[in-house]
Amino acid sequence: MTMSSALVESIKRRAADEAERTTYPAGFPVLPPVPAARYADAGFAALEADAVFGRSWLMVAHVDELPVPGSYRRVDQIDRPVVLVRGDDGTVRAFSNTCKHRGAALVRDDAGTVGRRLTCPYHNWVYALDGTLVGYPEAHNFADLDRDCLALTPIRCATWGPLIFVNLDPDAEPLHEFLGPVADDLSELAGMEERLRLVAHHQRPVPVNWKIPVDANIETYHVNYVHKDTAARALRQPATGIQLLPKGHSRMLIGVQEGVSFASPLPTIFEGVGDLPLAGTFSYHVFPNLSIVFGGPGFLFLITNWPDGAPNRSTYHVHFCAAVPPDDSEHGSLLDVLVDVNEGVLFEDLTVLPGIQASIDAGALDAVRLSYQERRIYALHEAIDRVIGADRVPGHLRVPPVLGDHVER
Ligand code: FES
Repeated sequence: MTMSSALVESIKRRAADEAERTTYPAGFPVLPPVPAARYADAGFAALEADAVFGRSWLMVAHVDELPVPGSYRRVDQIDRPVVLVRGDDGTVRAFSNTCKHRGAALVRDDAGTVGRRLTCPYHNWVYALDGTLVGYPEAHNFADLDRDCLALTPIRCATWGPLIFVNLDPDAEPLHEFLGPVADDLSELAGMEERLRLVAHHQRPVPVNWKIPVDANIETYHVNYVHKDTAARALRQPATGIQLLPKGHSRMLIGVQEGVSFASPLPTIFEGVGDLPLAGTFSYHVFPNLSIVFGGPGFLFLITNWPDGAPNRSTYHVHFCAAVPPDDSEHGSLLDVLVDVNEGVLFEDLTVLPGIQASIDAGALDAVRLSYQERRIYALHEAIDRVIGADRVPGHLRVPPVLGDHVER
């Protein structure tokens, strides 16, 4: 199932209608203040680590980052040692990066290839690419090792086309169910493992809570100010149409300015989203930390932001993708420009975000006050409390759920 033409038209119409609205929407609740300490409190960050990052499907890599059997990539975005490995059968699997002998890390570099086997650097225990223990030196010195119980610990891992997700919860629902309407809208992605190629993957540490850059990516209130010389020249910020979706996911279209075109010579990626990528910047937020953003019909970028050891530190990742052959020469310079331009706009946010964290850390801000156009941020907070369990969230940090009637099912 892809998007119906009626849905495509309604998304465009709702963005256009927003530009005409001059009063607060009738029937929409006033959004309660969001306690600022949710961006700084160590106890709250621990709850998020357990319930949000410990039990959600998380996009951690693109298949092009593991090109051949034996390719591996450490998942350093989460606070558990996990490694992705492409097997002899082409399947990408995730394991604890933990040898079953005495716990040494099997791989220490960020990425590379191990050939046919994973070999522990400490005492040379050897594992097949599917995690099976296949041998260890001086076997006669071990009385009764049960090899079958000593395979590497598997971590839930699933692909959605070229995108690799992991989930630390062995009982999590299947990825497709978790994605819900996002997977339906972008169902073509499932067949794009060979087609949607990784153009670039950039990451950088940012001195702010993981939610602060996510917030910036899911609202447009700041576009005319932070991005006044860049994105605001192309986008019509008041024409921001938003649909809140189940499980904390959402979609957004920001209309395009008169006379601006997002057309390009790049091959169109998705037919099933109609002309939405030409109508403006069209994007999805996938709970908790993934934004899927169309930079026109032929260019897509995936933004994730990750807690990084402290409530006021995170790491920002962007995977830039296009439906072009690897090492495409025909569109190489255009792709370079698209990466530079879009990355430049994203990182303009970093001119203001550290100041927010400094204010919160100093106790100078008690709460975040959100407008209607920032309601995806409130929806994210509601979803966070939902997955943690509202009764586990201290009362002074809780957000009351008010958006239930405004989620489109
Ligand atoms: Fe891996 Fe000893 S810890 S072989």
